[in-house]
Amino acid sequence: MSQFPATSTSQTFRDRLAATAGEVEAILEELLSDDIRGGEIARPERLTAAMRHAVLAGGKRLRPCLVVEVARIFGVETKAALRAASGIELLHCYSLVHDDLPAMDDDDLRRGRPTVHKAYDEATAILVGDALQTLAFEILADPRTDPDPEIRATLVLGLARAAGLGGMVGGQMLDLAAEGRYGEAALDLEQVRRLQAMKTGALLAFSAEAGAILGRAEPRQREALKRFGTALGAAFQVADDILDREATAESLGKRTGKDRDRGKATLVDLLGLDAARAECRRLVEEAHRSLQDFGPEADILRDAARFAAERRV
Ligand code: IPE
Ligand code: IPE
Ligand code: MG
Ligand code: MG
Ligand code: MG
Repeated sequence: MSQFPATSTSQTFRDRLAATAGEVEAILEELLSDDIRGGEIARPERLTAAMRHAVLAGGKRLRPCLVVEVARIFGVETKAALRAASGIELLHCYSLVHDDLPAMDDDDLRRGRPTVHKAYDEATAILVGDALQTLAFEILADPRTDPDPEIRATLVLGLARAAGLGGMVGGQMLDLAAEGRYGEAALDLEQVRRLQAMKTGALLAFSAEAGAILGRAEPRQREALKRFGTALGAAFQVADDILDREATAESLGKRTGKDRDRGKATLVDLLGLDAARAECRRLVEEAHRSLQDFGPEADILRDAARFAAERRV
């Protein structure tokens, strides 16, 4: 049985997600072992253990699954896409560790376990994020990720742009401002959409794009897949905001009701639950339209978009 509760998403996608999770976790475990790797001087035990805590305890592994499934469309075997997929997951895990810090969302629970700053301490959690981020780039730059240096450089450039100032990190800055911390005026719908496209959408879009890069896709196909990932990412964050309002901490493995408690502007807040659900459906259609030049080989991606919007975890 799949670990994911049933929704209208096809079982096939949830099975693939679970299968990729297993394969990615095997690589992540190897990357985070106590053994030093080429060029390293030593691995402090406390830091390695805290990184394992951050990375190896659950998580849907949706970003790696997107990398693998897009690459597969272009005939890339799963095995050849798994390292790039793992690198992106490391970057995502770093973003969660820092997102949960007392200075940010101040959360105690993540993936059903104490957050890294709770299980260790705040300074260790900051360093865990730092080390996961650099490890992510190391993996993308490693010749074992892809034999072609140009492909590796393209992956590194893409991840840097998706994760940095004009992407995830910039989105996190706007997200804090959306709580009114810095005295800005309340955000309107377009501003919330933009911050979500940055904090969440950019990395999900890049995950789809990374699969296309590994698959040596034509520029037009790569653009279409990036658009697909962008729409999926937007649906994913609206679903996150809906779950924050509606789900329980037990089912999600993270605290809920926290956006409202902090007065954070979200789409649920601005639109209400029904209109937020309608927005999710519209975004799934948009994701599907981006795939119009692809045939049945992209059905798994169509399912992925539905999953992002309808997920319960
Ligand atoms: C949580 O991401 C943070 C958001 C971008 C909303 P996920 O819901 O993908 O978290 P995991 O990796 O499954 O724990
Ligand atoms: C997190 O958004 C986005 C990133 C980690 C970049 P949220 O703050 O809504 O994510 P959760 O709800 O804590 O998982
Ligand atoms: Mg946050
Ligand atoms: Mg958070
Ligand atoms: Mg959230």
